[in-house]
Amino acid sequence: MTKTYEIAVIPGDGTGPEVVREGIKVLDTVSGKCGFNLNYTYYNLGGDHYKESGEILQDDALESLASSNAIYLGAIGHPDIKPGILEKGILLKIRFYFDQYINLRPIKLYEGVDTPLKGKGPEDIDFVVVRENTEGLYTGAGGCLKRGTDDEVAIQESINTRKGIERCVRYAFEYCRKRNKSKKLTLCGKTNVLTYAFDLWERTFNEVSKEYPDIRTDYAHVDAICMWMVKNPEWFDVIVTDNMFGDIISDLAAMIQGGMGIAAGANINPEGISMFEPIGGSAPKYTGKNMINPIAAILAAQIMLEAMNEHKAASIIEAGVIKVLREDLESVSAGKMGYTTEEVGDLVAEYIDKN
Ligand code: IPM
Ligand code: MN
Repeated sequence: MTKTYEIAVIPGDGTGPEVVREGIKVLDTVSGKCGFNLNYTYYNLGGDHYKESGEILQDDALESLASSNAIYLGAIGHPDIKPGILEKGILLKIRFYFDQYINLRPIKLYEGVDTPLKGKGPEDIDFVVVRENTEGLYTGAGGCLKRGTDDEVAIQESINTRKGIERCVRYAFEYCRKRNKSKKLTLCGKTNVLTYAFDLWERTFNEVSKEYPDIRTDYAHVDAICMWMVKNPEWFDVIVTDNMFGDIISDLAAMIQGGMGIAAGANINPEGISMFEPIGGSAPKYTGKNMINPIAAILAAQIMLEAMNEHKAASIIEAGVIKVLREDLESVSAGKMGYTTEEVGDLVAEYIDKN
């Protein structure tokens, strides 16, 4: 019997629907080739839906998402809506509800893509950031007192649990082993200042490392990581870190791989339902213009297939992306690709069809 996957699709705001459309075009082409089915259920969520209905993400939508095998997200974010409402109400809510405790950001400079790093090429930029995705500064723990007065106090707490750190670190070791590149795992922390949180991270990391004698370990403070990522990106294979540092360093990393047109990520619960997304955001100024680069969304689809163990299909998509980046696109920036959003999707799909 042909395998069928249930994919929940949240096209979302801005250019989200445009890039998701191209991702699905590519997914349909590759699933036909590789002999599995993808069944899509669309969810109307995001800023426009919130403005029309006052609804952000209802419990029944969450329950319905729970019946899918994976979630494919375009973008969430709306210029008219106060920052935090949609991010917390949709993106973070899904991450927490489904306990997607890993945020995975593969960083790879493909041939034909410019990096802002002088003298660095595809052989130098190929690593992965494994970011803890459910704890740290993101839990919302804290509070404020006397808001709006001269005596105002704001506390935002970083929550780090042994279990939360251990499962993340273990995932990173396993990933590093499976990736089988230079087999080096770097812990990114701040043990010189955050002496409680990163003491726990460091001890956990060192303990778990004993189970992985084949993986070399390294440690660097987050500020040093930023420095080395620009100066010597070739030093990195897999980096593991907490939620906040991971958020920051993965955007720096996205820039050195060519920027938001390329960068894709995944919110993973290895035992549950994961969510895959291009990380570029809703890009309101390009909305509806058929100008945005859909490659990041296509690569998010590729990571999704990888996570569903459809390795052959995933590598066919990557081969298509490699070809299109190397031979076709003039630039990876919106409006400068030499092709429209739709045409870029067509180019990848045509390659897959022919190979
Ligand atoms: C990301 C984003 C989110 C985060 C925002 C939109 C809440 O920046 O996925 O990295 O901070 O995690
Ligand atoms: Mn971010």
